[in-house]
Amino acid sequence: MEKTFLMVKPDGVQRNLIGEIVSRFERKGFQLVGAKLMNIQSELAEEHYGEHKERPFFGELVDFITSGPVFAMVWQGENVIATARQMMGATNPKDAAPGTIRGDFGLTVGKNVIHGSDSPASAEREIGLFFKDSGVVEYNKLVNEWIY
Ligand code: TYD
Ligand code: MG
Repeated sequence: MEKTFLMVKPDGVQRNLIGEIVSRFERKGFQLVGAKLMNIQSELAEEHYGEHKERPFFGELVDFITSGPVFAMVWQGENVIATARQMMGATNPKDAAPGTIRGDFGLTVGKNVIHGSDSPASAEREIGLFFKDSGVVEYNKLVNEWIY
C-alpha cells in the first residue's frame, strides 16, 4: 500500500492544529502508520528541503522549520501521496481552495501549516529521513474492509 510523509509544521503545532489535521486524514480513510513530535535539527532541515537549496527563501525555510516542534507522520492508503496533496491545498495559502488545510488555516506561504511529499520518490526519501530509526507500524484495521 502506498505511503506518504506528512508533517504539521511549527505554526500548526503552536496553533493546536495537530488534532484537526490528523482527524481529516483519518476521516478520509487513510491509516496512520507512524507519528512523532520532534524538533528538527538544521542538518535534517537542510537535507529534507535540499531541492530548494538555491532558492532565495531557503534560509528562512530552514529557520522556520527548526523554530519549534513539528509533528511528523507516515500515512498509508490508496493514492495517499496525491490525495494528501489535494487535501493540503496549494503551497501559497492565498491560492489554496477553502476546504483544504492550507485554504482553511493559512494566510502566508512562509507559514503554511503542513508539509506533504509530492511524489513516490520524495515520499520514500522523506520517510527514510524521518523514520529511519523508529520505522513505521504495519497493522490491520478491520475498517479497511469498509473502505476498499
Ligand atoms: P515547495 O516544495 O515548493 O511547496 P510544498 O510545501 O507545497 O511542497 O516549497 C517548500 C516550502 O517552502 C513551502 O511549503 C513554503 C516555502 N516556500 C516559501 O517560503 N516561499 C516560496 O516562494 C515557495 C515556493 C515556498
Ligand atoms: Mg515540496
